[in-house]
Amino acid sequence: MLAPVEKTVVPLDPLALRKAFGTFVTGVTVVTTRDTDGTPRGMTANSFTSVSLDPPLLLVCIGKSASSFPVFDASEAFAVNILHEGQAGVSGLFASKAADKFGHVDHDVVHTGAPVLTDCLSWFDCTVHSRVDAGDHLLLIGQVRAFGTSPAAPLGFCRGRYADVKDPLPSGWPGPLGMLVGYLVESEGRILLRANGSGWTLPTAPRRIADDALPLESGEALSLVADKTFLYSVFDVAESDPGYLIYRAQLADSAPRALPPGFRFFPIDRLPYDEIPTREVRAMLRRYARETASGHFGIYVDSRDGGRLAMVGAAQAWSTHP
Ligand SMILES: Cc1cc2nc3c(=O)[nH]c(=O)nc-3n(C[C@H](O)[C@H](O)[C@H](O)COP(=O)(O)O)c2cc1C
Repeated sequence: MLAPVEKTVVPLDPLALRKAFGTFVTGVTVVTTRDTDGTPRGMTANSFTSVSLDPPLLLVCIGKSASSFPVFDASEAFAVNILHEGQAGVSGLFASKAADKFGHVDHDVVHTGAPVLTDCLSWFDCTVHSRVDAGDHLLLIGQVRAFGTSPAAPLGFCRGRYADVKDPLPSGWPGPLGMLVGYLVESEGRILLRANGSGWTLPTAPRRIADDALPLESGEALSLVADKTFLYSVFDVAESDPGYLIYRAQLADSAPRALPPGFRFFPIDRLPYDEIPTREVRAMLRRYARETASGHFGIYVDSRDGGRLAMVGAAQAWSTHP
């Protein structure tokens, strides 16, 4: 039988309490945001939890003594990056007071502008839904605007130490797939396409995200406008092994007008759809043409039930792509 509840409040030993909290096994995340001048900020946090599917909400607790607390307290967007088993070092870096934490990890802009770590187990790019003041922490509740995940094993944490998570992928979960990285390079209302023997397709690149230069298969490189490369679409192609990861990019004004053989710019409203053999690429280019006309861009993420389209720049719920 349980002992009767004490009526008098006895002061709790904070260290013992911390140890008791620490027996709850968690993953490890890096929570990121930007300060008012755009500088990326981030800290390690294991206080992450999912909150709601409809609307899609999550939360993380930010300590008020963290040096990045004022930035999280003022920011309208943040990202949660769940670390994989090989990232104890990244956790240590973001738990430190290092001045330039982001100088040591690659990061992308996906949707809100909050830094998304290029390498992580899963990421959630959020706008701030609400804040709850809670003792020495702030509960930061985010609405998920875009997310991604990978089949790597998670980094675990328990009793103040990193823990191995023996987590063979359950059947039915997507395994590792090679990805083709494609680019929608735009210049003066035109899109760059590449001849591939059976028609036209997008230029592809060996890297995941190009900063200011896009290396082409021919060995040449195209100059891009720095900081204007955004994730646009993630999808699988039926009966093909690799999936596609497509970024939008803008050709720099200073880029040479002469293109390598096999490359050609097409006006967005006159793309050669009949000569683009891959149905999914045609559908994506049609969406791009529509969105260019309306000025509202989305990010498409493929899924078994038809995919999700998140609009960029408009705070609206995810909708099922037609
Ligand atoms: C595994 C782990 C989990 C942590 N979880 C949190 C957390 O949930 N919330 C928090 O405020 N700090 C947490 N911390 C501590 C912060 O990462 C640490 O205070 C960091 O220095 C904050 O960075 P900043 O001072 O640059 O903002 C955690 C640290 C580790 C190693």
